[in-house]
Amino acid sequence: MERGAISDWRSKRVAVVTGGNKGIGLEVCRQLAGNGVAVVLTARDEARGAAAVEKLRGDGLSSVIFHQLEVTDARSVARLADFLKAHVRKLDILVNNAAVGGAEYVPDLVYPSATNDDPFAGMDEGQMSEWMQQNTRETYNSAKETLETNYYGTKHVTEALLPLVHSSTDGRIINVSSVIGQLRYFVSEELKQELNDVGNLSDQRLDEMVAAFMEDFTAGAVEARGWPVGFSAYKVAKAALNAYTRVMARRHPELRVNCVHPGFVKTDMNRLAGLLTPEQGARNVVAVALLPTGGPTGKYFALGQEAPFV
Ligand SMILES: NC(=O)c1ccc[n+]([C@@H]2O[C@H](COP(=O)([O-])OP(=O)(O)OC[C@H]3O[C@@H](n4cnc5c(N)ncnc54)[C@H](OP(=O)(O)O)[C@@H]3O)[C@@H](O)[C@H]2O)c1
Repeated sequence: MERGAISDWRSKRVAVVTGGNKGIGLEVCRQLAGNGVAVVLTARDEARGAAAVEKLRGDGLSSVIFHQLEVTDARSVARLADFLKAHVRKLDILVNNAAVGGAEYVPDLVYPSATNDDPFAGMDEGQMSEWMQQNTRETYNSAKETLETNYYGTKHVTEALLPLVHSSTDGRIINVSSVIGQLRYFVSEELKQELNDVGNLSDQRLDEMVAAFMEDFTAGAVEARGWPVGFSAYKVAKAALNAYTRVMARRHPELRVNCVHPGFVKTDMNRLAGLLTPEQGARNVVAVALLPTGGPTGKYFALGQEAPFV
């Protein structure tokens, strides 16, 4: 089925989207396909991914296919790379979107309003964030999963697909980040400076820093060592992803490598406590994915505008 569906892809730009089965990722797939891009929608769960593709095809978007991808599983990543090498041969746009939320929701979750259709109606971003802080807890497992998925997983997918991105004449990598990955959330000036010193940073050093965070988390020393507090693993993973984006942009000037904050979006990640729809959030990601040829690289975009890493 997949080979037949991609027989007319030669003249199109090709994109891979990770975590494409729902939320912002699904809408990124929809909008890229709507802009004439052929899309490989990936998801870790075969049934959820296939259902998402069917949904998009049902909406008239025929140039979308499914491929399984669990970003933390090296064999799954290798299978996707092999499939693309054999059947597509190049990758114009890689959208690293898959991520987890960085904390566990408490079992006795209490919504601000049990009566309203939208339990967060009337709340601003600060109030919703406060609700999320109060209704979640960071555990060893959630921190570990967050670093493995949001940072290492993204990095491994990027490394595996990099030769294919290089086969494009206009290869782009878009890392979906977050406003809370900004370095202002770090208390330690030393950590902040090192993560911002992109001229001297390597991805090996980034790995060491992320591993050091996990050690400090395990030892209960997050605050004492000056790491961000509150969703600390999520913030560290996204800050490291931003730094990785800059390292990759410097190392591969022929590519466009950028990171994007989509906005505070109503998805499963935050139990629908957002301000934007997934469609609106995806627009901020797709705008960067489809920037004109020769555009910026090594940059961070928030809500459609270039913004500071700090
Ligand atoms: N929502 C917001 O307000 C917000 C704000 C800033 C940044 N972001 C970022 O936006 C991106 C999309 O998030 P979202 O809000 O759309 O969340 P979401 O609805 O929870 O979607 C997350 C997606 O990632 C997938 N995923 C998680 N772990 C994976 C893994 N190990 N391998 C492959 N896929 C995996 C999920 O698959 P399953 O369905 O199988 O779980 C799902 O498809 C993330 O990078 C997130 O950090 C979101």
